[in-house]
Amino acid sequence: MAQVPLKRRKRRDPSPPARTPDPGRFPAVVLCLVEKRMGASRRAFLTELARAKGFRVDGADSAAVTHVVSERNSGDEVVQWLAQRRGKHSTGEDPPALLDLSWFTESMSAGRPVAIEPRHRLQMTEPAAEHRWQLAPYACQRRTPLVHSNHTLTEALEILAEEAGFGGSEGRSLAFTRAASVLKALPCRLKNLEQLGPLPGLGEHSRRVIQDVLEDGVSVEVERVKLSERYQTMKLFTRIFGVGVRTADRWYQEGLRTLEDLQEHHTKLTRQQRAGLQHYDDLNTPLGRKEAETITQDMQEAVQRFLPGAMVTLAGGFRRGKQNGHDVDLLITHPEDGREVGLLSPLVSWLDSQGVILSQHSQKNSYEGPEQPRDGRVLDRFERCFCIFRLEAQGGLATGRGWKAVRVDLVVTPISQFPFALLGWTGSRHFERELRRFAGHERKMVLNSHALYDTKQVQWLGGGMGCGGGCGQQD
Ligand code: UTP
Ligand code: MN
Repeated sequence: MAQVPLKRRKRRDPSPPARTPDPGRFPAVVLCLVEKRMGASRRAFLTELARAKGFRVDGADSAAVTHVVSERNSGDEVVQWLAQRRGKHSTGEDPPALLDLSWFTESMSAGRPVAIEPRHRLQMTEPAAEHRWQLAPYACQRRTPLVHSNHTLTEALEILAEEAGFGGSEGRSLAFTRAASVLKALPCRLKNLEQLGPLPGLGEHSRRVIQDVLEDGVSVEVERVKLSERYQTMKLFTRIFGVGVRTADRWYQEGLRTLEDLQEHHTKLTRQQRAGLQHYDDLNTPLGRKEAETITQDMQEAVQRFLPGAMVTLAGGFRRGKQNGHDVDLLITHPEDGREVGLLSPLVSWLDSQGVILSQHSQKNSYEGPEQPRDGRVLDRFERCFCIFRLEAQGGLATGRGWKAVRVDLVVTPISQFPFALLGWTGSRHFERELRRFAGHERKMVLNSHALYDTKQVQWLGGGMGCGGGCGQQD
């Protein structure tokens, strides 16, 4: 950079006047003057004036700009003007204030930045009702932030999705989940149905629910579901570790309604379900990120006893940035393919001998490679252990008895399949489903937690062919 002749450097960066930014007297304020309609000479004059008063003035491409000042432009025009000049900065977290020249002149006469009042702000026209938002059709192509602006709507839709799932209507459940996923991706709060335009993934029924909530604050249908005995009982039962929709439904049909009813009929329960029932309250209390990280760290140390160099990675919701979760999803691997075989069993026995495990249910690795017939109910075939850990109180628990039961999934993967396992176990469930759908429909590929398979070229693009625990790299 220092070698570039001065003339060339100037020509490359004509605006603003190239100089090291002087923080000025007001470090929290960085001005930018919009040349459009103002003209170059007036802009240069106002820039000098502001600098003489101790203000910092940057060009439009500066990410530091906090106050954009313009003359005789609408808010929309300035947004467009900025977008053309700022490129990647235009979507920053903290966009600059768009102000009329009146704020500037008042600040100049005051000799300091005056407080921004509504009258200083540029007017934005309401965007056209139709085609307002353009969203990619697959959830995996969109940003879906954890914190978004439409929680009331998405909660309503997700209750209907859950209820449809309880009734075994997978298609209906998916339709509501898709609609909720679309709303999560919107950049701001939805005010009316027209704003949605022809967005993908919004069926008639979902639109009706959205309209009800927008107009009345609640959806009568959703409220009715929430109060129904069936929904409440299904929710109660499916929250038991080891109980799926089918079991819960059978119990409901048999007339069981409460956890006490189940205890009386405890012969119906599997060992896993009995443990789930026993620790029901703990397992339905959200787990904090701190606790999840403590468990990850403890497990990282524990695996070293049996396989030095083994690595433990926290996946699931915590990897997506959630502060709370219902369990801890841990992937275990080793940098050398195949070394992970045989690790889980002694590890679990040792944890058990240390009093860490309250209940566990292990499964062997059953991955046999791409030719294996696919089973829609099975997400992956890694060796794993579904456990309930006894977490001691140092993790900051308030159970009043010094420990708490916590759900932990331990999943062992050969390093050659680890990227796919990590992708598959990070979730969310809907993201994963959409990613697989995208791979299949748009790329003619098969994606699972073991590998990616190109059906056109008939070859595996990565991951493992599987040989029990993984037998090395593919070419
Ligand atoms: P979870 O059910 O743990 O969900 O599955 P979560 O997103 O972490 O949410 P909370 O916070 O615990 O409630 C995590 C991911 O692991 C995948 C699921 O697809 C999900 O995306 N998973 C789960 C599998 O791949 N295989 C399984 O057997 C279970
Ligand atoms: Mn999880």
